[in-house]
Amino acid sequence: MERLFTPCAIGNVKLKNRVVFAPTSLGGHGLELYREIAAGGTGLVILPDVSVQPSMLGAPSLDSGWFFPYFRQVLYLCRKEGCEAAPQLFFPEYDLAYVGGLFQNRQSLGAEEVRRKMAENVDGYCDSLSETQAEEIIARFGAAAKYAAAAGFRLVQIHGDRLLGSFSSAVFNHRTDRYGKRTAFPAAVVRAVKEAAPELAVDYKLTVRTEEPRLGRGGVAIGEVPEFVRALEEAGADSFHVAAANHSNLRDTIPAANHPFLRGEGCFSHLGEAVLNCASKPVCLVGKIQHGAFAEGLVERGYGFVGLSRQLIADPQWPNKVRAGREEEIRYCVYCNQKCVGGLMSHKPVGCVLRQETEG
Ligand SMILES: Cc1cc2nc3c(=O)[nH]c(=O)nc-3n(C[C@H](O)[C@H](O)[C@H](O)COP(=O)(O)O)c2cc1C
Repeated sequence: MERLFTPCAIGNVKLKNRVVFAPTSLGGHGLELYREIAAGGTGLVILPDVSVQPSMLGAPSLDSGWFFPYFRQVLYLCRKEGCEAAPQLFFPEYDLAYVGGLFQNRQSLGAEEVRRKMAENVDGYCDSLSETQAEEIIARFGAAAKYAAAAGFRLVQIHGDRLLGSFSSAVFNHRTDRYGKRTAFPAAVVRAVKEAAPELAVDYKLTVRTEEPRLGRGGVAIGEVPEFVRALEEAGADSFHVAAANHSNLRDTIPAANHPFLRGEGCFSHLGEAVLNCASKPVCLVGKIQHGAFAEGLVERGYGFVGLSRQLIADPQWPNKVRAGREEEIRYCVYCNQKCVGGLMSHKPVGCVLRQETEG
């Protein structure tokens, strides 16, 4: 593994290797898993869905300094092992107060009605925001970046799906003002982060959708990738993290083993290639990556990083085992989605069927 374990950088942030723990909501604060993943040899951990406004259900956010003790603990656990950590800054693709109200009334409304009303809200939300509201949200990303720097982070990831995914997509964005240009809002967010905290490196999660087969609704249409990459690089993005676009079905963004289209190792490679072909900044690919030789091949092909989510939940020691040539000891993810995605869906902490079996 000559390339996978060589140091590299995102902007001015040096990373010890090219293995990234992709953003993964864990249904809790995840300190124990981050400790294990950092100790297992991963170079960068992305902390999932860190809100730029006060979040629902007490999830860590960066709208104030309230969660600094938590973030500093994560940074301490990671850096002790030579691993970096970066928060994934996001804004939801729906009106948080409205959706919060739906959940409060879910007994009387019923689960089906809550789902229907929420989907309706997602469909119209991007268009419903006034220009002033859009600019307030952009400013929130800038403010969150300042908090991120004050908490001790050197790098942030901007979540290019969620609300940015809606602005990026012709399915949701029918605006006639300046943000009707689909690159405008995401690029403005990157600029705001760079201006507010120039010392931070910025990774952009670029989610890509395809028409044939039809996968994803938010995010960037595969044919529009070059235009987005140019606009985001001009705005200051230092790297890209490529995955599948959402606003449709988790089954497509976190595909199980039996997905009709996204089956083999590197299942989003076609999306990654579209970005790799035009980006001048490092690109990270995710999607069912689990063999050392495959990951090494991606770096050889030109990817700056490889991102793993479920494989690192199944075996946080993956990097150490690959590096030491002990691959026969790896607990390979079977992409059953039972306890990881299943945990998430049933509002329980994320787990792994393999770890329960082997660890009792
Ligand atoms: C339990 C779980 C939670 C996830 N949460 C997030 C999240 O909060 N933000 C995000 O951008 N992606 C999230 N993802 C998607 C992953 O970052 C990744 O793109 C996807 O799982 C494919 O990679 P994999 O095949 O290595 O698991 C999540 C994935 C899983 C399994």
